[in-house]
Amino acid sequence: MGFLDNQVALVTGGGRGLGRSIALALAARGASVAIDDVYRDEAGVSAADATVRAIEESGGTGLALSEDVTTVDGAAAMVEATVQKFGRLDMLVLCAGNTTRGRLHELDEAQWDSLMSLHLKGHFLACKMALPHMLAQNSGRIVTVGSRGAFFQVPANKQVPRDERQPPSAAYSAAKAGILGMTTTLAVELWETGITVNCLMPSASTQLFPDTKPRMVGGVPASNSLDPDDIAPTVEFLCGPDAADISGRIFFASGGDVILYGNQLDLAGSRMIRKDGRWTADELSQVLGPLAGL
Ligand SMILES: NC(=O)c1ccc[n+]([C@@H]2O[C@H](COP(=O)([O-])OP(=O)(O)OC[C@H]3O[C@@H](n4cnc5c(N)ncnc54)[C@H](O)[C@@H]3O)[C@@H](O)[C@H]2O)c1
Repeated sequence: MGFLDNQVALVTGGGRGLGRSIALALAARGASVAIDDVYRDEAGVSAADATVRAIEESGGTGLALSEDVTTVDGAAAMVEATVQKFGRLDMLVLCAGNTTRGRLHELDEAQWDSLMSLHLKGHFLACKMALPHMLAQNSGRIVTVGSRGAFFQVPANKQVPRDERQPPSAAYSAAKAGILGMTTTLAVELWETGITVNCLMPSASTQLFPDTKPRMVGGVPASNSLDPDDIAPTVEFLCGPDAADISGRIFFASGGDVILYGNQLDLAGSRMIRKDGRWTADELSQVLGPLAGL
């Protein structure tokens, strides 16, 4: 018996990488898990089917779906199929994702749109379709998936030698920053409904980020493990009974490291200057340069 017995999860992007690890972990806790993923290998084998097989081999219950999360029809079909099969929907974990390797000025409009569509529209549509079921139940857990790329690229990349830096993608960071904003404000929209929304920022070696290296970020030493299975316990916790009152928060997970970020509007770690009246640009040049470490 697990603490998610009789509960139902839907994990997008659950065919590979973090989504697969999370789906298996939730199933091991007793949840019935619907896995949505569009990927098929060269032999035509569906990644979602493979995850469901692994769940069933461990004695759990799964449902394989291959809907495109970026379309209204796909998102609706994925949620409806889950509710039809299992009767309810308690957890939504949004791991479907991708990135681009090019620098911003090298991307074309289609690449930009595709990234925004997968991350932002994908999160929006899945929540839009799932929330009516959760609101009717007065309960639910939503875990969005962001990235430290949303706000950490500059310090992170300056800490490692130029030729070892991970290629950043400004478009990916923009999409992930949108997910952070969506998470915190959606949590406020859902205050007192029994539904929580929290954002996971992972770091693990997957087919999407095979070259991920442990990186010291924000003064925190890097974890020495990049196993995707290390991420799942944070999501189990967020879906479990002890996290019922945690919402609108951002968690980093990698290896043995978990960071609960502070309130985003808290000035700890930031620098604020104030004067009575308006600053001039000359005055700011005198003050802000040194504050930025110049
Ligand atoms: N791995 C990391 O270190 C890391 C770091 C920060 C953020 N993330 C984020 O975590 C999430 C999972 O990443 P991952 O590393 O496990 O990648 P992954 O590529 O292993 O898994 C993502 C899955 O999403 C599926 N997918 C893509 N488009 C889809 C669509 N339109 N509909 C349904 N499924 C779709 C893919 O087929 C794939 O199996 C992504 O949002 C990624 O941006 C990962």
